[in-house]
Amino acid sequence: MLITSNVDQAVTTLVASGLCAIPTETVYGLAANAIDDVAVARVFEAKGRPQDHPLIVHVSQIADVDLWIKELPGWATTLATAVWPGPLTLVGLRTELASDLVTGGQDTVAVRVPSHPVASELLAKLRVVGIVGLVAPSANRFGHVSPTSAQHVLADLGEYLSSQGDLILDGGECAVGLESTIVLATGSQPVILRPGAISAVDIEQITGLEVVARTTESPRVSGALDSHYSPRAEVELVLEENLASLTGPAGFIALSQVATPTGLTRLIAPNNLDEFARELYAGLRSGDDQNFSGIYVVAPVGEGIATAINDRLGRAAF
Ligand code: TXA
Ligand code: MG
Repeated sequence: MLITSNVDQAVTTLVASGLCAIPTETVYGLAANAIDDVAVARVFEAKGRPQDHPLIVHVSQIADVDLWIKELPGWATTLATAVWPGPLTLVGLRTELASDLVTGGQDTVAVRVPSHPVASELLAKLRVVGIVGLVAPSANRFGHVSPTSAQHVLADLGEYLSSQGDLILDGGECAVGLESTIVLATGSQPVILRPGAISAVDIEQITGLEVVARTTESPRVSGALDSHYSPRAEVELVLEENLASLTGPAGFIALSQVATPTGLTRLIAPNNLDEFARELYAGLRSGDDQNFSGIYVVAPVGEGIATAINDRLGRAAF
């Protein structure tokens, strides 16, 4: 069977150089043993991902981060201790263990400790058998919407994974629904490379430091390509005051308090910003499943998770 909820089966597959899509609290990742270059190369092949896009290494516990990152500034250790396990990725100077395939040839590596109980159990069991890190890019075809359920992974990668004897580990729907916040941790101040559930305000409160804006010298982040996270349907951001002029057929996404315009089909109706983040990707995918050529979205207003939602919406709409 391609889909399983048996963690031991996932261990067996990964030990045997197979790939396994895994649930995390953010989105599903397509995992391989991070020091197995043959398996890591297949992750790129499965996703259709260009090789110069570096991967995130997922580890079982904070103590294992040292295996991958040489040294973290004090503020980053404070941040990691406060947030991990959780939806945060730190980019730091790499150790010898991180191969060029994982880092895209850069002198830095991205690492995170996920909090999903199934991912935690899997990483702990792998550690016992000597696997101390899993690369896991989002388990979607390159450029497509990230998966937040095992069914989403199946739709994107099922054919490839089943033809190769790989696995999808089902851990239900992801609680956060957007990819982790990526923070560059090589300097004296935090730089957010990709916004996520851990916000700039969270980071400032935890570290006591001001978060620096991303610059053109900051490392490239593949999710930061202008067009990314895209469904087939064209995503158009609309203002609430202009809804009366819209005509269907098309999909519609907005907070639940915004009524569905006549002729449009509601895809999700989240009650708050956390639900918006959790349901957004499923909503975009359901627009494709219903063959809409367009999806209208009223972007949420606000800081924190709204910043991350609007970042993804902006790229989906590009
Ligand atoms: O929440 C997540 O982070 C999910 C789950 C599965 O953990 N993973 C994820 O992976 O979103 P992926 O490959 O779709 O996105 C990883 C991002 C890419 O934008 C990549 O460019 C960036 O991390 N990245 C990886 N290594 C980096 C490095 N050394 N410097 C800068 N960015 C890096
Ligand atoms: Mg991705």
